[in-house]
Amino acid sequence: MPSEKSQNAEGILAEDHEALGKLLHDLLAALGQAYAPAAFKRLDLFWARLAMHIRGEHLHLFPAILSAFDGDTSELADETPTVSEAREVIAQLHSDHDFFMHELAAAIKIMRDCRTNAGGNSTAAIDSVRQLIATVRDRLEVHNKLEEDMVYRWPAKLMEPAAQTALAAEIREELRNLPPRFREEAD
Ligand SMILES: [Fe+2]
Ligand SMILES: [Fe+2]
Repeated sequence: MPSEKSQNAEGILAEDHEALGKLLHDLLAALGQAYAPAAFKRLDLFWARLAMHIRGEHLHLFPAILSAFDGDTSELADETPTVSEAREVIAQLHSDHDFFMHELAAAIKIMRDCRTNAGGNSTAAIDSVRQLIATVRDRLEVHNKLEEDMVYRWPAKLMEPAAQTALAAEIREELRNLPPRFREEAD
């Protein structure tokens, strides 16, 4: 969860990348040779938390960036993207998000099958889960760097301070929206 000291969208989302990285690390550490409820729980939590983060970007960050081009952009600071550059990079991030959710859904399905014993050889199944998670981790690293080095800096360059504050509040709210099944533990 982002701390209250994070004031802008950039800080909140970058801090959430760090928290997600830690969850991912814990998940990989919990994946042993066979199915374990603790590993499934960590996978489920990472999936839910990444989905919340992605929702924050899809519902708030990306639309805010793209709509900032609707106004007068003639006096923008240097190093601001053109609308077509912004669209192109955001399309890339969208396709990464689809990939993450797709791979994690596949990992969840394998784990569920293991839990109900329909997964056959559990060691091979857990091995394929580990590979799926490792692929997500590697692509997520590149993805997060692109966001932190580029896209997360755009609101400060493109938007008025009041709009930046409103965006930060929306994203903060989205990142609090943990599904009910986790809430008791988070409290
Ligand atoms: Fe993202
Ligand atoms: Fe992100």
